[in-house]
Amino acid sequence: MIETVKTIAELRRRLGEWRARNETIALVPTMGALHEGHLSLVRVAKAKAGRIVATLFVNPAQFGPNEDFADYPRDTDGDAQKLENEGCDLLFRPDAEEIYPPGHATKVSVEGLGDILEGEFRPGFFTGVATVVTKLLMQALPDFAVFGEKDYQQLLIIRRLTRDLDIPVVIEAAPTVRDDDGLALASRNAYLTSAEREIAPVLFGTLSQVAENVGRGVDAEEQAAWGLDQLERAGFGKIDYFTVRDAETLEPAAGASRPARVLAAAWLGKARLIDNVAV
Ligand code: PAF
Repeated sequence: MIETVKTIAELRRRLGEWRARNETIALVPTMGALHEGHLSLVRVAKAKAGRIVATLFVNPAQFGPNEDFADYPRDTDGDAQKLENEGCDLLFRPDAEEIYPPGHATKVSVEGLGDILEGEFRPGFFTGVATVVTKLLMQALPDFAVFGEKDYQQLLIIRRLTRDLDIPVVIEAAPTVRDDDGLALASRNAYLTSAEREIAPVLFGTLSQVAENVGRGVDAEEQAAWGLDQLERAGFGKIDYFTVRDAETLEPAAGASRPARVLAAAWLGKARLIDNVAV
């Protein structure tokens, strides 16, 4: 079974051995309940570095008080097996006290970018993500770290914090992995009933249609309103946002001169689905 360490000291000792032999290291942070999307991050990591470290930590700091921390899917043994099969070298699986010992008081937050879209609907979420990712990067000091484009705003925030805090790591983006019908893989898809699972691919279908139309020059605001309406008609519950944004700043899209991204978050029963498509 894959070698597993639970403390920062053990992690640093093992990585230090590799570094002493001039081996390059890629970090793949996860919250477990691994699916093909996560395994694709490991494959991107393997294409970049000689040694791969995955982390498995369900980070309490990125869950709001009414969110699903207690129910979040967990499968520690299955995850370890999948990482082993994928050729991952080391698993860092700390307990909460290792990451947040008593008295832990420092938070990392990315102002502006962290306050909109997901940040607006999940207050504190990005501060939780930015804090734990900063800590994991400082603990492992990898050459590369890999994150999925599925969580596009998270990816931008992590790029920004590494730049702003001068953390010497290259952030690699991995494309979203989808089921055959287009639904982006996500651990929380486990919450969908079979009826909801039938509806769920409408999200990707609508994002793709809007991306295509905006790319052809159709008005972005009009298209976002159309997309929202499509999701409502398909049977989605609350739609937190459906919007076309600048692909770098996530400000409202400024026209055809800049790359844009269509992003949405919407509820289907207990599951909150998020996805995005490049224009
Ligand atoms: O994307 C995730 O799974 C988490 O937000 C991350 C990056 C592992 C931080 O907990």
